[in-house]
Amino acid sequence: MSAVLVKTDGPIGIATLNRPEALNALNNELLDGLAAALEAWDADPAIRVMIVTGSDKAFAAGADIKEMAPKSFSQMQAENPFGRQMDRILRIRKPIIAAVAGFALGGGCELAMALDILIAADTAKFGQPEITLGIMPGLGGSQRTPLAMGKAKAMDLCLTGRMMDAAEAEASGVASRVVPAEMLMDEALKAARKIAAQSLPAVMMLKEAINRAYERPLAQGLAYERRAFHALFATHDQKEGMAAFSGKRKPAFRDE
Ligand code: CAA
Repeated sequence: MSAVLVKTDGPIGIATLNRPEALNALNNELLDGLAAALEAWDADPAIRVMIVTGSDKAFAAGADIKEMAPKSFSQMQAENPFGRQMDRILRIRKPIIAAVAGFALGGGCELAMALDILIAADTAKFGQPEITLGIMPGLGGSQRTPLAMGKAKAMDLCLTGRMMDAAEAEASGVASRVVPAEMLMDEALKAARKIAAQSLPAVMMLKEAINRAYERPLAQGLAYERRAFHALFATHDQKEGMAAFSGKRKPAFRDE
């Protein structure tokens, strides 16, 4: 079964993340599939807007911890897993709606925040728990959370690794709106149809203009974050934090 299911509804491309056995954890197969689907729709004149969604239980519970656990700093730097697909997703010019139910954690929260509109089900839970694995966010979390919610709240979320519910995520500027879970796809499709009815050149220009509002300082911060994220794979605590996750036990960090 494919890690990303794709379908269209008129001018709307819908990509559904589909790794239920791992709560849609992001691995290369999933992110390659997602980036390829979005790129194909970006190039397809019949498609005017896209939706990315997950399951009722999880949008995505982060980057795949089991896959990245053994990686070294030099492997992370050379392979740039997750980051290389995220860079492709950030180049998509048509609008993308994230329709989020359940867990959106770590890379899952970062992916949702990197898209254009974020409609959350009232069951959604957001967080940047990387710190509990001995690492830090690597797909924009340390940059987009302070932009959305300010420094103190971003520090609170990222340094404690706690989760926010959908209401707090909306109040924090992460979610653009919250809807009852059973209405999530209806509301996302309604928003998508409204956008699809507008002039596509104006829509694409407007997406670019809104992104310009913070893109230059964001780009510098993202480059810094990517290097620091890779560098943490040189530490004992990254190996310990990720082994502890797989072993379902508490990590014993050594600060090295
Ligand atoms: N990577 C790999 N596997 C994952 C995963 C992840 N991020 N999240 C969940 N899974 C797997 C679990 O290991 C489990 O597999 P098994 O059945 O084989 O044990 C399965 O999905 C179901 O998960 P749980 O049994 O843990 O489900 P739960 O309902 O008890 O808990 C959860 C849900 C709180 C989301 C918990 O799964 C969890 O804490 N997941 C990890 C969240 C996390 O730390 N994300 C950050 C990853 S690092 C990152 O994203 C780096 C970056 O910035 C790029």
